[in-house]
Amino acid sequence: MGADPEVTLGATLAADLARADGAASAGFLAGSSYARVARAPVGHSWSVALVGGDASARASLLEAAAVHVAANGGGRLVWWAAGATDLDDKAAAAAGFAAAREQHQLRVRLPIAGDAHFPAQVHVRTFEATHDVDAWLAVNNAAFEGHAEQGGWTRATLAGRLAEPWFDPALFLIAEDANGIAGFNWLKIHEHEPDRPGEIYAIGVAPGRQGQGLGRALAIEGLHRLSRRQITVGMLYVAADNTAALSLYRSLGFITHRTDRAYEREVAS
Ligand SMILES: CC(C)(COP(=O)(O)OP(=O)(O)OC[C@H]1O[C@@H](n2cnc3c(N)ncnc32)[C@H](O)[C@@H]1OP(=O)(O)O)[C@@H](O)C(=O)NCCC(=O)NCCS
Repeated sequence: MGADPEVTLGATLAADLARADGAASAGFLAGSSYARVARAPVGHSWSVALVGGDASARASLLEAAAVHVAANGGGRLVWWAAGATDLDDKAAAAAGFAAAREQHQLRVRLPIAGDAHFPAQVHVRTFEATHDVDAWLAVNNAAFEGHAEQGGWTRATLAGRLAEPWFDPALFLIAEDANGIAGFNWLKIHEHEPDRPGEIYAIGVAPGRQGQGLGRALAIEGLHRLSRRQITVGMLYVAADNTAALSLYRSLGFITHRTDRAYEREVAS
């Protein structure tokens, strides 16, 4: 399948491209719909984001993204469709993508009831970039082993996130005891979205410390800190097959707001 000739590089994307890391990202337009393809910071993969368009325009944009990836070394191309519908299934199939996994966006009204009860000897502080980087990476990569987006982080991956404009060290909670970091809850406030939701961006407990109440305490503590910032909507994304985390979040009052679906295609060089 070749790229639709009507899918053209848009002049409006000049600013995007000026910021782009060479061929590591590109933008495409099909009528009034838009795609942006970018090399993922972790692993040999790419992501494509789409805005607007019917199934046919979306299929064309996905194909254009695949052509870009093929021309730049190939790899796995992932499209996350927010609130995926049958039309997204159709567009993905037409462009040679297969549904691979789902995640739910959950939300809860804040404040939630109840206090955070941490296991004995555990105390909570905030992340300190001067000495937490390697210890945090070890806990994160162990907790999220095999996870496509949150696993396998390097110092560079973390440095990139810490440099994001939304990053607030006061909202990156570290739980530790005499043995070091036992878990974390990293929060992100979406200042520019309606409702100004506060997200549990990444929460994890070291594998040897799971099942002892630490994840629940970290989640509650984080949500209370968001409430103290006048945030009234708590939000997070969770893989649809992560039964332990889903059970925790449901017990805190989170309900499903939206379900997103990842479609993937292996693109040869
Ligand atoms: C999800 C996670 C943070 C929970 O932390 P934890 O310290 O293990 O959880 P807790 O001991 O506080 O248990 C809290 C609740 O989680 C649920 N839960 C925990 N382990 C579970 C398991 N193995 N099976 C089912 N539910 C489980 C239960 O609802 C539990 O409540 P309960 O003890 O009243 O039954 C932790 O398992 C983890 O780090 N997982 C890997 C990373 C991850 O998936 N993060 C979440 C991404 S959205």
